[in-house]
Amino acid sequence: MNRTVLITGGTGYIGSHTTVEFLQKGYRVVIVDNLSNSQKEVLNNIEAITGKAPIFYQADCTDKKAMEQIFQDHSIDGVIHFAASKAVGESVNKPLLYYRNNILSLIVLLECMEKYGTSHLVFSSSCTVYGQPEKLPVSEEAPILPATSPYGNTKQVNEEIIRDFAHAEKSSLKAIILRYFNPIGAHPTALIGEEPRGVPQNLVPFLTQSVAGIRKELSVFGDDYNTPDGSCIRDYIYIVDLAKAHLAAFERLFHDKSPASSVEVFNVGTGKGVSVLELIHSFEKATGEKVPYHIVARREGDIEAIWADPTKANKILHWEAQTSLEDTLLSAWKWQQKVR
Ligand SMILES: NC(=O)c1ccc[n+]([C@@H]2O[C@H](COP(=O)([O-])OP(=O)(O)OC[C@H]3O[C@@H](n4cnc5c(N)ncnc54)[C@H](O)[C@@H]3O)[C@@H](O)[C@H]2O)c1
Repeated sequence: MNRTVLITGGTGYIGSHTTVEFLQKGYRVVIVDNLSNSQKEVLNNIEAITGKAPIFYQADCTDKKAMEQIFQDHSIDGVIHFAASKAVGESVNKPLLYYRNNILSLIVLLECMEKYGTSHLVFSSSCTVYGQPEKLPVSEEAPILPATSPYGNTKQVNEEIIRDFAHAEKSSLKAIILRYFNPIGAHPTALIGEEPRGVPQNLVPFLTQSVAGIRKELSVFGDDYNTPDGSCIRDYIYIVDLAKAHLAAFERLFHDKSPASSVEVFNVGTGKGVSVLELIHSFEKATGEKVPYHIVARREGDIEAIWADPTKANKILHWEAQTSLEDTLLSAWKWQQKVR
C-alpha cells in the first residue's frame, strides 16, 4: 500500500506509539518534531520494535519554511497532528507560549496541506473540551464548556479552526478529531513510553516514580468528591489501544466513501470510569508493589468525574479498547523499571 503519513510530534509519547502501529501496517512514516519534549533516541527504539526507520525532520511546526520543505520532499497522503505543548499548569503561567505553539502549528500545517494538496488530517484533541459534563458517560454530542486553562482553550480553538477551514469554499479537508481521555502505560517491549521532564503532571508516571523511590509519595488530591470512594474518576486508556485508534481513523479518511461530514469527532476512551484509589489498588494487585500515598486537599481545576461513551468509535471506526487496566499498569511499571 505504501501510503505516506506525516506525524507531527512523532517522537513524543502518543506519537511514538502511533508511529510504531503505522510502520507495522506498512505505511511510510515521516516525523517532524522539534524535540522540545522528547528525545532523538526514540527513533532507534521505534526501529528496534518495527525493524523500520521513520524519516525524521528535526524542525518546528510553526516554521513555515521548514514545513514546506517536508511537503516538497515527500508526497504526503495524510497528517496526524500531535505536536503541541501539553502541560495544563504551565499553560496558565505561559499562555502566549501555548497559544503560539499550539495554534500557529496547526495554521502553518493547514496552509501547507492546502498548498501541497494534502486533504486528510487526524487531530489530537482532548476530553478537557467537555469540562465537567452534566451527563456521564460523556458522548460527542455533549456541549463544549468554557476552557479552564489556556491549554484547554487551544484544543477548543484548534477544533474550530479545523471546522472553519473544512467548511470553507474550495477546501478539500477531511478531518477526524480524536478526543482522548487519559492515556497511560507503555509499549509491551518497554522500548518506548512516557518520559516526563521534571515532576510528572499525570497520575501514573507520578505513581510509578513514587513506587520506584524517585518521589517520596503520591498525593491523592481529595477524597471528599461525590464519587463512591471520594476520589476523582477518569477513563484510563492504554497507549497502544489509543495508537490503534489513529490507524482506524486514518483508514476511515481514505476508505470510507461517504462520511457524514468533512469533520468527524470521536471519543477515544474505554467507557469505564476508574477512581484514583481504584487505580492505586489495581496497580498494587497487578504488580505486587505497595504504592506510598497520602490524601491531600483537592487540587484547583480538577473536575470530579469523567469517562467516555466510546460507542461512536466502536461502531464507525470499528475500534475499541482491548487491554485490561491491570495489563496496562503492568506495562507502565515495566517501563518505569527500565528508565529509572
Ligand atoms: N498525554 C495526554 O494525556 C494527552 C491527552 C489529551 C490530548 N493530548 C494531546 O496529544 C498530543 C500528543 O501528546 P503527548 O502526550 O504525546 O505529548 P508529548 O509532549 O509527549 O509529544 C508532543 C511532541 O510534540 C513535539 N512538539 C511540541 N511542539 C512542537 C512544535 N512546535 N514543532 C515540532 N514538534 C513539537 C514535542 O517535542 C513532543 O515530542 C498533544 O497534542 C496533546 O495535547 C495528550
